Amino acid sequence: MMGPLFEGHAERARRGQWQIEDLPWDEPIRFCGTSKRDQILCKLDTVDLAGVMYHLQLGARMRMGDHLLRSWNHDRALLECLEWHDGDEHRHVRVLRRLIDALQSKGETPARNDRPLSPDRLWRVAYSSRERLSDDRVLLNMLIDEAVSRTLFGMVAGSSGIPLVRATFDACSQDDVRHVEYLTLMAARRFESLGSYELAFLHGAAVLHTARLQSALRPYIGSFAGASRQSAEAVVTAVFGAASRVLSDLGANWKQSPVMRLVHSADRSPWLLWLLR
Ligand SMILES: [Fe+2]
Repeated sequence: MMGPLFEGHAERARRGQWQIEDLPWDEPIRFCGTSKRDQILCKLDTVDLAGVMYHLQLGARMRMGDHLLRSWNHDRALLECLEWHDGDEHRHVRVLRRLIDALQSKGETPARNDRPLSPDRLWRVAYSSRERLSDDRVLLNMLIDEAVSRTLFGMVAGSSGIPLVRATFDACSQDDVRHVEYLTLMAARRFESLGSYELAFLHGAAVLHTARLQSALRPYIGSFAGASRQSAEAVVTAVFGAASRVLSDLGANWKQSPVMRLVHSADRSPWLLWLLR
């Protein structure tokens, strides 16, 4: 029985709700850098990473409905978690779109942008119409994506020089903390009854999905690095670290399996890093 397990999570989701209007939209937006060129680059980086998160969330919205239907049962607390989660993701899409508009309307407009965002690949991280994944894989992929987006939101929230960006990314990151918590509980409960063959298959699926996500993010790692004032290696390491931590929380099998080491040690292994990228 899952009943009481999810009550605390549902309550935290209810208390954690926030409004888009509460964010500091009136705060001045000043892009970092002393020269005009640096400020334009900062603007492009910041618009890019807001766009990446927007498109990742948009893809996740398609999967969210699928996840909600597949996980539906008579546990009211779990249903509440799913419904709040759905509402949170919808709010993220709207707030990120508004943030992108606010950023684009400020500062210099570059004469030409030769690095336009390619949303299709970002959408396909969460959703592919060509393959019908099992319920377990949908849950697993969702958990990995939530952990990585929590980390990316948090990284920018902690380092951006623009108060509106910090506030928006921090609010989204707090939502993702809750999403990771209830999904981890769901996944740990569901996967504990799996046999070794099914588990090994899921380990492979986790590696595949982490590589797929890393690959979709790769063109934008520089933007995350620029906007969060970190090195590109630190951003890649943070992405692998987020996946590694959340998978380790699923139990000893997920921590020690040889296949899972591909994710756990990727951020410390140059050739694995290259292979998975
Ligand atoms: Fe989320």
